[in-house]
Amino acid sequence: MVDVILGLQWGDEGKGKIVDYFAPKYDVIARFQGGPNAGHTLYVNGKKVVLHQIPSGIFHEDKINLIGNGVVLDVVTFKKECETVAAMGVDYKKNLYISERTHLILPTHRALDKASELSKGNDKIGSTLKGIGPAYMDKTGRNGLRVGDINNNFNAEYEKLKAKHQEILNNYKFDEDISQWENDFFEAIEFLRGFKIVNGEYFINEKINEGKKVLAEGAQGSMLDVDFGTFPFVTSSNTISAGVCTGLGIAPQKIGEVFGITKAYCTRVGSGPFPTELHDDMGELLRKTGNEFGSTTGRPRRCGWIDLVALQFACMINGVTQIIMTKTDILDNIDDLQVCSSYSIGGKETDQVPFQMNRLDITPVYKSFKGWKTDITAIDTHAALPQAMKEYIDYINQFLKVPVKYISNGPGRDQIIEA
Ligand code: GDP
Ligand code: IMO
Ligand code: MG
Repeated sequence: MVDVILGLQWGDEGKGKIVDYFAPKYDVIARFQGGPNAGHTLYVNGKKVVLHQIPSGIFHEDKINLIGNGVVLDVVTFKKECETVAAMGVDYKKNLYISERTHLILPTHRALDKASELSKGNDKIGSTLKGIGPAYMDKTGRNGLRVGDINNNFNAEYEKLKAKHQEILNNYKFDEDISQWENDFFEAIEFLRGFKIVNGEYFINEKINEGKKVLAEGAQGSMLDVDFGTFPFVTSSNTISAGVCTGLGIAPQKIGEVFGITKAYCTRVGSGPFPTELHDDMGELLRKTGNEFGSTTGRPRRCGWIDLVALQFACMINGVTQIIMTKTDILDNIDDLQVCSSYSIGGKETDQVPFQMNRLDITPVYKSFKGWKTDITAIDTHAALPQAMKEYIDYINQFLKVPVKYISNGPGRDQIIEA
């Protein structure tokens, strides 16, 4: 069986922490999409670590970690990350596998990402500039190079694709010197040769047939999904549960639980619509208290109230079976909390996410709740949670018709309460 953990908002919901928490119950942890645009934070023996490419099960010695075919791999980031985890005592070569079908991010993909964003001016996506969009474009455009290609006339194939990219870069009048990126890239390609490069789909299906339990780790969030997110302000992959099938090569019937993660409020980094965004002191307070700065780029995250219209949509398209609510402790000191239960668009109320949110003037309709005004970070049973918090969560439960089964009340490994 394959269970899934994914984000229900615009990313950074706390997937890294939650995957690390659940990892002991599984045999295989697999990333199925995204690339180094992801930044998944874990605390291991009190030490903070941010993973971009390696699955968040890597700190559990006996677990297999797989980078699936749906991922785009930046080998330079990957090499650095391997060195980081090695310094923390992880023997990464032992349990880390990479699918031969995983597409590679080339230095020119990063250059193209930058050139494209620059050309967009004020309409920029706010990309992490890691080359994600161009790498996925080369996948669907049937030009990309894959991990399995590194032993097959790789340098010539690289030069061919680079020449194509160079023409586009010339069109953009992009003339930055990328030779250092290229040196790092080829060094990292050599490093990659030392890894277990496997046929990921047979590999994972064999594990499933042996009765092993797989945990699929999502990156980004459902509202950044290329099909169902706030297009064009999205990432370039399918971040939703359906992406698990194409990103790992497993059948839909193999999927069991779909754990959807939401913060107790909402954040977004980069451009694009965000109906419940707060531009006032409350937004600032959430950013400060929640330390809402990007794990990958350091950019301040935009902050706002929880949006149940978007969450209900995300539960629908993912088939979420259990919700995990994170960063509840960040609301500990707030007098009144707001929950968005519908959108008002042109004077009409709707409970549905509209097509092209960015072209609409959306006013969120809120229901107010009393804050709990209690430090909850040391609480470890559901019974001990403040009544006001239970009321806040109960309303969300009833609205979404999916149970909030876990409540995370701090960044630490043990700060999580089962409802
Ligand atoms: P991810 O991309 O979904 O893995 O999330 P990030 O790691 O980018 O951002 C989540 C941040 O919130 C990290 O700094 C986590 O350490 C932190 N975090 C996760 N859960 C909690 C929680 O319940 N409370 C608090 N205060 N911080 C949390
Ligand atoms: P994790 O896995 C938050 C956002 C970027 C930008 C848009 C497109 O840590 O939750 P891209 O680089 O993919 O072309 O950027 O998507 N974005 C994320 N926001 N968390 C992430 O990952 C993100 N990955 C991409 O900020 O708005
Ligand atoms: Mg993140």
